[in-house]
Amino acid sequence: MDASAPNELPVPSAAALLGWYDRHRRSMPWRALPGEAPDPYRVWLSEVMLQQTTVAAVAPRFERFVARFPTVHALAAAPEADVMQEWAGLGYYARARNLHACARAVVAAGGFPRDLVGLRTLPGVGDYTAAAVASIAFGVPAVPVDGNVERVAARVFAIDAPLPGGRRAIDRAAMRLGEDAAARARPADFTQALFDLGATICTPRSPACALCPWRGACAGLRAGAPERLPVRAARRVRPVRHGAAFWLEDAGGRVLLRRRPARGLLGGMLELPGTAWGDQVGPEAAPQPAEWALAGQAVHGFTHFELRLDVYVGRVAEVAAEGVLVAADALDGAGLPTAMMRCVFVARRFIGR
Ligand code: ADE
Repeated sequence: MDASAPNELPVPSAAALLGWYDRHRRSMPWRALPGEAPDPYRVWLSEVMLQQTTVAAVAPRFERFVARFPTVHALAAAPEADVMQEWAGLGYYARARNLHACARAVVAAGGFPRDLVGLRTLPGVGDYTAAAVASIAFGVPAVPVDGNVERVAARVFAIDAPLPGGRRAIDRAAMRLGEDAAARARPADFTQALFDLGATICTPRSPACALCPWRGACAGLRAGAPERLPVRAARRVRPVRHGAAFWLEDAGGRVLLRRRPARGLLGGMLELPGTAWGDQVGPEAAPQPAEWALAGQAVHGFTHFELRLDVYVGRVAEVAAEGVLVAADALDGAGLPTAMMRCVFVARRFIGR
């Protein structure tokens, strides 16, 4: 295998992939049925959500989101706090803010731009999202390179340059997949076919090569071990940050929450009051004096670091510290980010509810 090979290898047949897709396409709440016109709003929204998590996890959240904000106009008109609340648990809150800003930009422009350059100017829309929306919603020949497509391309062309450095070579190869005339004739289906192939056949650990429409053209399969591709450079260990979070409950069973500053990680989201993340600190940093008991540690993985929060539980007759009080049993619907829900679980387990 050799990183320069892809340009010499023939591009596999888009017709074969599309034929396979016509028989095996997955149905998803944002996908148009054959012959149906796609809704650019639903396509764009699903792509933003799918950058965070899996199709299975996104599907119910997508349905809920579009029930609340059925059109780009409804989303643009909603207060930012409502959008953030509906996004809670999907991670990356900057993306929710961009989502809202993007909806406003789209409404101001009178609709979604229909090409790559126009889409790329929207807040939060990068090369991947622009290519996905342009191809799926507007039939523009473009190949969005996500993890699935990267894997398929690395295998078909047997590219073994390790990621992340090898990404450029793999991306270039992925673009070649879309050059076939049959791909250019059905850009929306071709993009979705690549996603489905990567998700159901060309899977990371044990690809089902016997069922693959591209098995005859796959240099990775010919070389003997497609599951080894793409090669990844050894992962760096994520740094750990420490901190404390405080569950302060009053006699009425209400818990103190605060809103985080608008900018920065989890910006604008509600949280249990806590310390800065980085230092190991104890209950002396608590929002007010109480009998603080250490309930346990909540661990949450962010992209660039692991957060370990010591969760302290304290009860007082009345909360004097600044913030909002929310009934302890209403916290599940309060729009707390996942990192904070982990703290809530630790506190509840300790209290015994
Ligand atoms: N992953 C990213 N976008 C997708 C889509 N539209 N369908 C399936 N999987 C995807």
